[in-house]
Amino acid sequence: MEPIKFTLDEKDMPRQWYNLAADLPTPAPPPLGPDGNPITPDMLAPVFPMNLIEQEVSTQRWIDIPEKVLEMLAIWRPAPLYRARRLEKALGTPARIYYKYEGGSPPGSHKPNTAVAQAYYNKEFGIKRITTETGAGQWGSALSFACALLGLECKVFMVRISFEQKPFRRMMMETWGGKCVPSPSPETQAGRQILEEYPDTPGSLGIAISEAIEQAVMDTSGKTRYSLGSVLNHVLLHQTIIGLEAKKQLKLAGEKKVDTIIGCVGGGSNFSGLAFPFIADKINGAQIDIIPVEPTSCPTMTRAPYAYDHGDTAEMTPLLAMHSLGHKFVPPPIHAGGLRYHGVAPLISHTINHNLITPRAIDQIECYEAAVTWARTEGFIPAPETSHAIAAAVQEAKKAKEEGKEKVIVFNWSGHGLMDLTGYDKYFSGHLKNFALPQDDINAATKALEKYPRPATA
Ligand SMILES: Cc1ncc(COP(=O)(O)O)c(C=O)c1O
Repeated sequence: MEPIKFTLDEKDMPRQWYNLAADLPTPAPPPLGPDGNPITPDMLAPVFPMNLIEQEVSTQRWIDIPEKVLEMLAIWRPAPLYRARRLEKALGTPARIYYKYEGGSPPGSHKPNTAVAQAYYNKEFGIKRITTETGAGQWGSALSFACALLGLECKVFMVRISFEQKPFRRMMMETWGGKCVPSPSPETQAGRQILEEYPDTPGSLGIAISEAIEQAVMDTSGKTRYSLGSVLNHVLLHQTIIGLEAKKQLKLAGEKKVDTIIGCVGGGSNFSGLAFPFIADKINGAQIDIIPVEPTSCPTMTRAPYAYDHGDTAEMTPLLAMHSLGHKFVPPPIHAGGLRYHGVAPLISHTINHNLITPRAIDQIECYEAAVTWARTEGFIPAPETSHAIAAAVQEAKKAKEEGKEKVIVFNWSGHGLMDLTGYDKYFSGHLKNFALPQDDINAATKALEKYPRPATA
């Protein structure tokens, strides 16, 4: 039998996270405060615990993973690396396709890799309650799960369209003890304002982030902080365990070289988790195509300007240097809810500007086609977000076939779609449409960014 699974023992789990900030050709432009000057760590203190702020600004290459975090990660890690032999055969490709299976965590995605770390650092800092947003529901359930392990309270603002599409995600959060409300909600000033102006809004991650930050900073006891599931440096850092494990597993599979790395991108955490350790190789001279994939309906990396913008709708976050469609932009209600974010991680934006990675946008119908081919060959049913990475892997495998090249393609299988079957149902009944964002909409949404300073591009 030819091996399809490459597994590590618990004792082989990486003991440190990899920090790409240590190896960038130039430092990424800093976040700016309301006065246009770079923010200082103490300005973030009402929002995040100081131990996480220290990670956020760190340029130390390797950061130790605390033993207690490793013990929680060991519930589902090391995650297997699979070879997709059945898909390879179905496509008739000479490419060898590997995928890092992150669907095996209790909530079903990569998100708990940072949720358990963030909950741990909050608890160490004396915090009792964490607030957050969630798009697809994967992040909210990951943080609810992590808070359950550590005995913390968890409050989740869930983008309204996902709240309605995915009631089982809310039930998962409640099972872990989290409290989940649809966003915009009447509970916050930010939510009430949006509801007054747009009572039928599907919501957005930007709005949900504003609500969660507002609730954290308004708690006068000082025992509540906010937690973000993507975008920020420390979140991407915690995800690098994915790529570090994958490197060891590719060795076990006998691969000496990787040609292509792929991941889907909402805020950018799962892609970065796999890709950053390989970007380090690329900076050191390796030839690797590294492809972050987004939906054509929310094309931040491929079509949005590089600008300073807020991470949330109500302008509570500092200005971040990122490819952004504008913080007031409400993406169309596609089923890949976790990819409906107006910006993308500053570190990803910076690596795009340095030509270290090459983004790609794919229509949702092609993604569902790829997801169904996947389910009928490899078996696992992917999340709609993950299907973007699968579709790009299929494109690359077909290209390798045309070129007659034995490429090694590795992608991040970020989560399962067992709570996302409504999207599959819509696809099968022909109710899904492609929706490439019109240029006029992009121009209108990004107009407001002109008033902010422009970050240096490299
Ligand atoms: C399964 C899955 N994949 C990918 C994403 C996108 O997020 P990120 O870009 O932070 O990995 C999400 C977000 O909710 C998700 O649930």
